[in-house]
Amino acid sequence: MVELTLPKNSKIKKGKTWNPPPKDAEKNRWREYKVYRYDPDTEENPRVDTYWVDTADCGPMVLDALLWIKNNVDSTLTFRRSCREGVCGSCSMNIDGTNTLACTMHADDARHNLIAIYPLPHMPVVKDLVPDLTHFYAQHRSVEPWLQTDSPTPGKEWKQSREEREELDGLYECILCACCTTSCPSYWWNGDKYLGPATLLQAYRWINDSRDEHTGERLDDLEDPFKLYRCRTILNCTKSCPKGLNPAKSIASIRALMVERGE
Ligand code: SF4
Ligand code: SF4
Ligand code: FES
Repeated sequence: MVELTLPKNSKIKKGKTWNPPPKDAEKNRWREYKVYRYDPDTEENPRVDTYWVDTADCGPMVLDALLWIKNNVDSTLTFRRSCREGVCGSCSMNIDGTNTLACTMHADDARHNLIAIYPLPHMPVVKDLVPDLTHFYAQHRSVEPWLQTDSPTPGKEWKQSREEREELDGLYECILCACCTTSCPSYWWNGDKYLGPATLLQAYRWINDSRDEHTGERLDDLEDPFKLYRCRTILNCTKSCPKGLNPAKSIASIRALMVERGE
């Protein structure tokens, strides 16, 4: 069995073990989950609780296991979720060492029978598995992620050719789950000023939109030593995106546009 070990000086403590499997339990029927717990209403340091999940009574995804725990064992366990199909981006967390979506990760795809779950790294924690994404959303808003035009509004719609529309493939699918941004070492150290991969992918989505007429202003706004240029091409972002997108490529494309216009 794999043991989860915490560093000796860690402020995270070993927590409680809930509902251990019955002694005569069928082999491999119960799966062990180690889950980060933090309650701001107490003075206590965070801890890691152990939960045993009856896989015969639970759906196959990691989110199913969390819901099973909440419904059957410990109603205080707190996490975000909504769509259960990888569309809303709210169930992002660090599972088995990787930032991903709990609803699209099959528990059998973890490396071991024991699955460790933590909140997204390097974000303040609101409670348990819920990170505070206020700053992340403010950064997203700062790139003004909506269509901006100066021409008179057309009668029916702003038209695009099929080819122009295809230029947005690989960009519009971003669900703002923050898995990429919170796996980026540059963002860990400079997240107050560096916009990070998700926001830069979103910025490029509008820069690359044939209908948008504020491309120059958008590039001017990103021309800053921190907002854009803290990317070190480490590629953690692209590796962690649960939607298979490539934020590092979007960042490289913005930088190429900067070079093209002589900056
Ligand atoms: S490629 Fe850039 S944005 Fe992506 S993880 Fe590396 S430094 Fe961060
Ligand atoms: S690029 Fe991928 S990982 Fe990053 S926020 Fe969008 S969907 Fe999530
Ligand atoms: S619950 Fe919506 S993406 Fe997981």
